[in-house]
Amino acid sequence: MGNLKVAAMFLLLLVSTAKAHPGAVFDVRKYGAKADGKSDISKALCNAFKEACAYPTPSKVLIPKRTFLLAQVSLEGPCKAPVKIVVRGTLKALTDPSKMKVDGSWVTFQYIDRLTLSGGGTFDGQGSKAWGTCGLKSYCKQLPINLRFNFITNAIVENITSKDSKQFHVNVLGCNNLTFRRFTISAPEHSLNTDGIHIGRSTGINITDSNIATGDDCVSIGDGSRQITITKVTCGPGHGISVGSLGKYKNEEPVVGVTVRNCSFFNTMNGVRIKTWPASFRGSVSDMHFEDIIMNNVSSPVIIDQVYCPNNECNAKLPSLVRISNVSFKNIRGTSSTPVAVKLACSSGIPCRGVEIADIDLRYTGKEARAAVSECSNVRPKIFGKHSLTICT
Ligand SMILES: *[C@@H]1O[C@H](CO)[C@@H](O)[C@H](O)[C@H]1NC(C)=O
Ligand SMILES: *[C@@H]1O[C@H](CO)[C@@H](O)[C@H](O)[C@H]1NC(C)=O
Ligand SMILES: *[C@@H]1O[C@H](CO)[C@@H](O)[C@H](O)[C@H]1NC(C)=O
Ligand SMILES: *[C@@H]1O[C@H](CO)[C@@H](O)[C@H](O)[C@H]1NC(C)=O
Ligand SMILES: *[C@@H]1O[C@H](CO)[C@@H](O)[C@H](O)[C@H]1NC(C)=O
Ligand SMILES: *[C@@H]1O[C@H](CO)[C@@H](O)[C@H](O)[C@H]1NC(C)=O
Repeated sequence: MGNLKVAAMFLLLLVSTAKAHPGAVFDVRKYGAKADGKSDISKALCNAFKEACAYPTPSKVLIPKRTFLLAQVSLEGPCKAPVKIVVRGTLKALTDPSKMKVDGSWVTFQYIDRLTLSGGGTFDGQGSKAWGTCGLKSYCKQLPINLRFNFITNAIVENITSKDSKQFHVNVLGCNNLTFRRFTISAPEHSLNTDGIHIGRSTGINITDSNIATGDDCVSIGDGSRQITITKVTCGPGHGISVGSLGKYKNEEPVVGVTVRNCSFFNTMNGVRIKTWPASFRGSVSDMHFEDIIMNNVSSPVIIDQVYCPNNECNAKLPSLVRISNVSFKNIRGTSSTPVAVKLACSSGIPCRGVEIADIDLRYTGKEARAAVSECSNVRPKIFGKHSLTICT
């Protein structure tokens, strides 16, 4: 065959594949998904994704505007070209976690480059039966996380809601350049252990224009996180935005470069927090910047806690060995529901270094007739600007 003929046949092949999938849209209904509320669409979604992933040019997996039951699925790359997963409808998990494989996951995305997850749809973890009541059974420690992103690169999650996860809503592990935009998390205040987005061992993660209401940390940042930027996020109810806890395990990687800017907190337990365990392994946290933040009735608006030891699980007398340096808190205003609006409890073994504080305007609005105060130990911050309370003197 002449080269021309081969080229022509190749073109014909391309055209016919495109015809089979107009605009390269892989609709889960074509793979057998039924929105009848009782048929599990795991297989259909997995097969639609597999074909999209193998498609040579950008493609779309479509979950239309219906409610579908989804038992458990892992969507894995590498893919040949960028894949968009467009969720217009609602995906519902099984309510009973004992009917799921015990691996702490519901929907997992892994090893995919240039993934977009969008469409305005909802991942409903149906977690209410699991919160609190799931105690001693072996699967309870590994309750499913709504969305796991493992080793995902250059990706966007936009216009998506995660609702009532059984455990964390989102876990980000080993990712690079992943943005969450207009992302909504919703779970009630009493839902146990439902952290919003947990990030670990990842670089270049942005969360912006998002709303997080849940029963634990809105965002928690674990070891090995670098260049994390959180802007225009509202948090509450929840436990705030936390770096840590760190120091509990050996060989934790440093946390470097976290910026939280232009965010607001409503009735949360903490605002912005760095927490490390006493009697800890070595670790380090540096280059943390918290600025332009509004606190509304927050219990501990600004807090570094290096004696973090819930349930007396540690020897609180030995200092934390996690080194905290180059941290700034700037332009933080609003109300505190407890008198200690600023608490910097640094390690007696390794004092905090390079801490800067500017323009703190926090008023105590609780029941007692007293003013807001700060409590500081093992830190000598540089103070700039105007403050409504005395800082560390
Ligand atoms: C990050 O990912 C986005 C979305 O795919 C992409 O547009 C951007 O170029 C990536 N940035 C870098 C530095 O690769
Ligand atoms: C998210 O929604 C906004 C507003 O409807 C829209 O402009 C934008 O294109 C959507 N993003 C994606 C990735 O679909
Ligand atoms: C993430 O935020 C940082 C800081 O604002 C910015 O430099 C970076 O370009 C952002 N990344 C993306 C993919 O938008
Ligand atoms: C965030 O920035 C916008 C635009 O500059 C501003 O209107 C808003 O008040 C800011 N919010 C906070 C919490 O600083
Ligand atoms: C403020 O927070 C406290 C403690 O979290 C709570 O008991 C109280 O109801 C909150 N006040 C308002 C006005 O929401
Ligand atoms: C803290 O900042 C100072 C001054 O910019 C810099 O020299 C130092 O290396 C930084 N320390 C860390 C641990 O990043």
